[in-house]
Amino acid sequence: MINAKDVIIACDFPSAEATFEFLDKFKDEQRKPFLKIGMELYYAAGNEVVREIKRRGHKIFLDLKLHDIPNTVRKAMKVLSALDVDMVNVHASGTVAMMRAALEGLTREDGSRPLLIAVTQLTSTSEQTMREELLINASINDTIARYAANAKEAGLDGVVCSPLEASLVKEACGNDFMTVTPGIRFADAKADDQVRITTPAKAREIGSDYIVVGRPITAADNPVAAYRRCVEEFLGE
Ligand code: C5P
Repeated sequence: MINAKDVIIACDFPSAEATFEFLDKFKDEQRKPFLKIGMELYYAAGNEVVREIKRRGHKIFLDLKLHDIPNTVRKAMKVLSALDVDMVNVHASGTVAMMRAALEGLTREDGSRPLLIAVTQLTSTSEQTMREELLINASINDTIARYAANAKEAGLDGVVCSPLEASLVKEACGNDFMTVTPGIRFADAKADDQVRITTPAKAREIGSDYIVVGRPITAADNPVAAYRRCVEEFLGE
């Protein structure tokens, strides 16, 4: 599955009911969308919603961004691996040792495991905040390239980053290292609160492997049509 390209819909809903109301619109679609479940939905609806979505045949990126001591992350990942999700993530700032532990915890007895990616620097953190609050003097780009290289060293499959950083990551870590990129908007749409954005077609051009798309699909008048448009622009299907 590594280097497969796909569109992931961010299911940023407050409850299982709202999620299934949305997913019911896709019932007759041939292509089952790959879905991202983040903290909001997971903390509200827990493993039950994950299992039901898997039962309906969707792939799941469980976006919980783990960051703790290696032993705790190893054990937590073991639990998530048993849920049979397809992709999970950690913060790269948790260190190479923590990322290695995450990978160990995720790997099942038969050697299979979900994809594991790392958040480098959150796009909400500015260079000024890094310098003044976190006492990190390196530039954002240097930090992203180094954190991505750390994730690669730990054996991870890739990173979450802005599409505008995807080529930087590919340069630092090679083309096989996956980039999963939010911040996607159609050329004719509003940006919402996203700042560094690009279109599905441009994201593909600059090296995204998976695009994560929330409101352009979930808040569209016709979410199925918006999803199809994303797939067409990103995958050319
Ligand atoms: O609605 P929108 O397309 O902006 O949703 C993007 C999704 O990607 C949200 O779930 C958001 O939390 C997530 N995300 C992001 N930027 C990051 C990391 C994650 O927008 N740097």
